[in-house]
Amino acid sequence: MLLVILIILTTITYYLIKLNYQYWEKRKVPGPKPSFLVGNLGKVFTLRMSAGDTYTKIYNDYPDEEMVGIYRGTSPVLLLRDPELIKEVTTKSFSSFHDNDVDILKENDPIFGRNPFALKGEEWKVVRGQLTPGFTSGKMKWLFPLMEEVCTELVKFIDQHPDTTNGQGFEAKELSMMYTLNNVASCAFGLQGKCFEKENSTFRQLAREFFSTDSWSVLWFFIMMVYPPISRILSMRFVSKPLEEKLMRLVCDTLKYREQNNIVRNDFLHIMAQLKKTCKEYDFTNEDVTAHAAGFFGDGYETSSIVMSFTLFELAANPECQSRLREELEASFENDKISYEALTSLAYLEAAICEGLRLHPALFFLQKRCTKDFSYKHLVIEKGTAVILPVYGLHTDGKYYEEPAVFKPERFLPGSRENLTKYTFLPFGEGPRACLGQKFGMLQVKAGIAYIIRNYEILVNGKTQLPLKYSITNAMTAPVGGLWLDFKKIK
Ligand code: HEM
Repeated sequence: MLLVILIILTTITYYLIKLNYQYWEKRKVPGPKPSFLVGNLGKVFTLRMSAGDTYTKIYNDYPDEEMVGIYRGTSPVLLLRDPELIKEVTTKSFSSFHDNDVDILKENDPIFGRNPFALKGEEWKVVRGQLTPGFTSGKMKWLFPLMEEVCTELVKFIDQHPDTTNGQGFEAKELSMMYTLNNVASCAFGLQGKCFEKENSTFRQLAREFFSTDSWSVLWFFIMMVYPPISRILSMRFVSKPLEEKLMRLVCDTLKYREQNNIVRNDFLHIMAQLKKTCKEYDFTNEDVTAHAAGFFGDGYETSSIVMSFTLFELAANPECQSRLREELEASFENDKISYEALTSLAYLEAAICEGLRLHPALFFLQKRCTKDFSYKHLVIEKGTAVILPVYGLHTDGKYYEEPAVFKPERFLPGSRENLTKYTFLPFGEGPRACLGQKFGMLQVKAGIAYIIRNYEILVNGKTQLPLKYSITNAMTAPVGGLWLDFKKIK
């Protein structure tokens, strides 16, 4: 009898899932045929392809469509192709797509759960408003001297490390990460990161734990991205308990030290500590202060070091672009230093980084969630539907970027940039939910690259595996085998 019930239940489930796979067909949205249970992510489940590459392939397979209906496992998900529709979702009709498609709760993960990226609805709006004053242009200008000190350390490190000049090569991501970690330590916490001096400095250890690539973390991240609701059911967290404790201790100790020694420093940690006294919307606890400061740590170094390392690699692989950038820099440095105003007004530097971001965005796709039914032509996108923005597909589409595989900073120079199709360049997202730390990220990448290119000619070391391939297990864009560079001192 039990067996019969089991067979009947299995058969009903089977047909319900099959029926569910007609969701897009019924709504006349084209898309690839799904496979049972895995939908269109079969290769992602068997670790043969990353989710990012899968969405890019789907993007490329439907060149004439505005949108493609796919299945993430058994859930219908809409992949947007048309820049106008992307504008609608990210900006014009933001109220219908208010949230990111992630389900990490602050009750389970006090740090990532409080990050604006994970927050939803009204709570997101309040927190985003509270954190924004920490990222104004005025604040960036104030932080710039701290970054300059780290740039001097960066140049000293390259000068002194034997592998940068002996043919062994130095890995660009590792180098960029030591630099961005020191910046975050200094700009957010007022601490010396000591990442250039010590292999096992506190900040390097924290970084290793943050974006760990052990198989458990890879599985966790996979579930979070592919089956967000399951992460809620499993009470999942992005920041592990031991890491959370270390970050909390770091912030608490720093705050206590400041209080005991009457140190007032106009930095991010100070803004957070002030919020505790002034926040009216809710009880801003010590946990909020530490979570946001720790959030700055996580957000602050990884994406920027990805951008910096890929841009350095492209400049090494394209010596004529590197020379053009050096000429621009030489005209702007005075006594081996560059001012904030000069650095932020360099058109070719900005263009080279944008081109690096186009070819190698830190995130290959963004996931939004429909928060209110939304009508578009013949279709109603229903509340709860996940929407994919295929960042890499758009960035490498020949329709929008001529010779898309070629590194050509010129496309982002004033005069050309205005002619690019809007909403096809999404390295920071778009609209009210776009990256909050864009100014800080761009500033530290600009400063680091400026100091390196001013002082060294950089070349691709033979250890770099070409053509570049992206890792399929990393949460963010990572080259297989690393980006190895040689450095030749200029004077
Ligand atoms: C150049 C480096 C960076 C890149 C490429 C980058 C990229 C991104 C992207 C693609 C998003 C998602 C946008 C969306 O959902 O539409 C994002 C969100 C975010 N980023 Fe960045 N980011 C960078 C640096 C930073 C830095 C330095 C910080 C802070 C210190 C930061 C803080 C955030 C926060 C808080 C969010 C969530 C915003 C929200 O949902 O309201 N990012 N970033």
